Amino acid sequence: MKACDALARMRSLGWLPLAGLGVLVVALSPGFSENAIGEDAPAHVSSRSEGVWRVRCGGCHLAFDPALLPGTAWRTLVGRLPEHFGARVALAQEERREVLAWLEAGAADAAVDGLGVAVMGRMARTDRPSRVTETRWFRHRHVNIPRATWSRDAVASPANCAACHREAGKGIFDERSVRVPG
Ligand code: HEC
Ligand code: HEC
Repeated sequence: MKACDALARMRSLGWLPLAGLGVLVVALSPGFSENAIGEDAPAHVSSRSEGVWRVRCGGCHLAFDPALLPGTAWRTLVGRLPEHFGARVALAQEERREVLAWLEAGAADAAVDGLGVAVMGRMARTDRPSRVTETRWFRHRHVNIPRATWSRDAVASPANCAACHREAGKGIFDERSVRVPG
């Protein structure tokens, strides 16, 4: 970062007046924050975002509803796609931006009602879930399911929502469409 080097040099030379420092920092700060957010900074949700998310995040498993996790969790996940829970997810930079924009805009902590509010309602301040199935909301919702059920062949993983929620692909999770295999 060139501006930073210049600042350090001026400081070490000892001629930078303290009063001037504040002005300099303010003048430089837009540049700093841009760099801090990084290349994945989503500008805004575009008309393509939802489609990119549906295709790119719904191929191996259900495209998980953005309202199932807070924005920081999505940002971390999208930043680590090459090491995605044991899978390698390769997305072009532009696709990553689109997907992240969609996930952050619909994230649990951006919601004013519905699912996101329910998810956040059970989240402790210190919780940093990286999985939907790790959230207190998920555990609470599935508290009556015996431990052994999750590892049955027909279920394989709690993340396999569609094993029990037969209309999960349409975003329907109500009691009527649930059937636990076994
Ligand atoms: C190449 C296949 C693949 C693609 C593409 C993929 N995932 Fe995954 N994902 C996985 C696997 C494998 C797991 C681990 C599943 C398990 O633990 O049962 C996983 C788990 C997850 C989980 C955690 C589920 C839980 O346990 O709560 C989330 C959230 C998730 N993926 C989001 C995404 C998003 C967002 C995208 C799109 C950017 C994406 N995935 C694309 C393979 C994929
Ligand atoms: C082993 C089967 C099983 C799996 C896998 C599973 N669920 Fe469930 N889920 C249930 C059962 C059973 C209920 C309780 C239904 C009830 O309220 O009687 C439930 C309840 C829910 C509810 C509350 C529905 C309501 O209207 O009260 C939601 C939302 C939900 N699950 C989402 C998910 C998501 C998202 C996943 C995947 C990340 C998932 N579930 C995985 C069995 C499962």
